[in-house]
Amino acid sequence: MPTLILNSQYLPSSRDWRSDAGRADTPFDVATFIREAQRAEAAGFDAFFHADFSGVDRTHLRSGPPLSAFEPFQLAALVAAATSRIAVMPTISTLYTHPFTFARNLASLDRISQGRAWVNVVSSFRSGTAIGMRRDVPRGSRHGQTEEFVTVTRRLWESWPPRANVPDLAAGRYIRDDLIIDVGHAGEFYEQAGPIDAPPYSERFPFVLQATSSLEGFRLAARTADAVFVGTPTLGAARQLRRILRAETRRAGRDPGSVTLLPGAFCRVTGSRPGTDTDAPAPRRWHRARPRPDDSTVQRLLAQFPGLRLQGASATDPLPADVLADDPDDVFAELGSRYLPFWDLVQTPGQTVGEFAADALALGEHAYFSGSPEQIGDELRRWYDEEGVDGFQFILGDDFEALCERVVPRLLGR
Ligand SMILES: Cc1cc2nc3c(=O)[nH]c(=O)nc-3n(C[C@H](O)[C@H](O)[C@H](O)COP(=O)(O)O)c2cc1C
Repeated sequence: MPTLILNSQYLPSSRDWRSDAGRADTPFDVATFIREAQRAEAAGFDAFFHADFSGVDRTHLRSGPPLSAFEPFQLAALVAAATSRIAVMPTISTLYTHPFTFARNLASLDRISQGRAWVNVVSSFRSGTAIGMRRDVPRGSRHGQTEEFVTVTRRLWESWPPRANVPDLAAGRYIRDDLIIDVGHAGEFYEQAGPIDAPPYSERFPFVLQATSSLEGFRLAARTADAVFVGTPTLGAARQLRRILRAETRRAGRDPGSVTLLPGAFCRVTGSRPGTDTDAPAPRRWHRARPRPDDSTVQRLLAQFPGLRLQGASATDPLPADVLADDPDDVFAELGSRYLPFWDLVQTPGQTVGEFAADALALGEHAYFSGSPEQIGDELRRWYDEEGVDGFQFILGDDFEALCERVVPRLLGR
């Protein structure tokens, strides 16, 4: 079965905030997220996810409401208290948090939720994310730091096993402190001597999602995570990413299926109820119209994706065969996941540079599904059945009710 994650921003951003109905599900009211998580749980979602960019993105704020007004772990704890099955999944930035703080927060969430804590691990290298610390982590060492961060956190997790909490009546001890072990870690980035002080509820470390767009990030996930969160707007690119992830996981000495690919999905639901099949434009933040296939579009594409070999080309030229490397593994290794959909587009013969540029710019970072709930459910299922994905993260869209009541049941075959 596909793994289904709901991004908490779906409901508050699914309606136009300029209308009364849109403002009813405000991101400033925790009840919005509790309602959303309860509905997602009933629909069959596996996890309720909360992103965190650790800073103010003014460009984003100018286009609509913030993603949320809540700190991710506090929100996850509240949602856990109001649900019983769905996993709660805050995001943690390895650059702005100490492993000890993270391990305590996660262990506490694991106990509050009785074993339903999952986590999204990011290294926060997007522009606009606040630093707030007096130290410089060069881009090149971010994955090394993240790996050490996860290692220390896992060792903290193991430092106080649940069996230490079984009272020893004969010895008159509530806690078996002889079973609580020191971590004794001194590495390149962190020093952690003692054990955790908030005992985890579960023996097993929580499910780790790694958000990344690079081969190095995939390799890190292959060694340390359970799933990868990546953007892939085409099924062809998704298949390549999943194949590469499985190969890297095997290379890391693990079962290739043990690290899954869970890309983002945007849903534009039409015609879910009588009178709603309108031609109303999709909310600006998540829909991209196809631009005209002219020279300015080619220049815009090149400004965003300088790795495309299109310098000096004009829109009416036939698309050169060597716009990207032939081998998708090379494209991913050299340029990252955002170029793989372009590799996919290049496979269509007979296009001009302008047509390619227009199609490329219309794609966006994440997959976009549009149609009736049943059409969307079937298309999502096709991505899963045709081995492009192991599940999805539903990031943005409209008609949250139809998503839960018709799209997800259709996808799950219920
Ligand atoms: C799909 C996706 C989601 C991400 N979500 C977040 C996030 O919520 N917060 C954050 O600070 N960084 C986020 N990032 C940034 C990554 O953690 C990472 O810093 C960035 O992608 C650079 O690493 P990479 O070269 O491995 O992709 C995200 C990246 C991707 C690809």
